Amino acid sequence: MGRSLTGRRCILTGASSGIGRAIAGELARAGVRLVLTARSTDKLATLEQELQTQTEVLSIPADVTSSADRERLIADAVARFGGLDLLVHVAGIASFGHFATSTEAINRQILETNFFAPIELTRLAMPHLTQGNDPRICYLTSMCGRRGMPAWPEYSASKFALVGMAEAFRAEFVRFGVGVTTIVPGLTQTDLNQHMLRNEGKMNIPFGQGMTPEYVAQRTVAAIQQGRREVVLGSEAKKMLLMNRFFPRLLNRLIARRVRQLYAVP
Ligand SMILES: NC(=O)c1ccc[n+]([C@@H]2O[C@H](COP(=O)([O-])OP(=O)(O)OC[C@H]3O[C@@H](n4cnc5c(N)ncnc54)[C@H](OP(=O)(O)O)[C@@H]3O)[C@@H](O)[C@H]2O)c1
Repeated sequence: MGRSLTGRRCILTGASSGIGRAIAGELARAGVRLVLTARSTDKLATLEQELQTQTEVLSIPADVTSSADRERLIADAVARFGGLDLLVHVAGIASFGHFATSTEAINRQILETNFFAPIELTRLAMPHLTQGNDPRICYLTSMCGRRGMPAWPEYSASKFALVGMAEAFRAEFVRFGVGVTTIVPGLTQTDLNQHMLRNEGKMNIPFGQGMTPEYVAQRTVAAIQQGRREVVLGSEAKKMLLMNRFFPRLLNRLIARRVRQLYAVP
């Protein structure tokens, strides 16, 4: 159960597709007043129309990696709602392929989107959140933020950084009364693989067998309502993280064997 979110004022990033779109639906059902953001203006407008019957909703197209866009997003949201209670960071991108064939540009773009953007948006939102009603920030990270995975080096690094920053924020923001929830999902059925900066890894990643975005959304909104600190979602993520905790050397050996098999010279 947990606290009611009805009437809360929220900015949700990554709202145009996948997990973010599903979270928008779930928050709207809970009566949250929503500012939806992403770069895809048309997709945001369609979603805004869909959700308008359930709650007050405003879409503000923005690129989260642009500091000017971030400032405009916060200013417009606060102007519309008169304040801010919730900030849900979902926007993210991935890159699939080994570091040996990657580039500095890919590395920087992943870190810009998945780490610097949510952190700097948090900085701008804090003066408003501290005045909010039971304020909370939620970071959508990844299983790769708790166990670095081969072929996901930049992505893993970006999510590790986000998990670490969120953990530090959780303690720091206690004195401002702002809660912090970290969601750590495993594989989810979205178009993330179609939006990747590159798709060169050799292992078949069965995105179709992952959790539904609706399931991740329900669990995310429940975690916000319950004021949870961290929630790991997905059976394979839970297994992987348990194995990493109790049998890290075995896990390293299994992963190394798989990489050698995949990259064996015929
Ligand atoms: N799918 C999985 O298996 C999985 C597992 C664990 C964690 N995650 C995380 O879940 C989050 C959502 O991913 P998804 O799977 O739902 O993939 P997705 O469908 O590709 O959604 C990504 C979202 O991020 C937005 N976005 C990307 N770059 C942006 C930018 N520069 N500015 C503003 N918005 C931007 C996209 O909107 P626009 O393109 O319209 O800007 C889109 O709404 C990501 O943080 C991802 O790392 C996914």
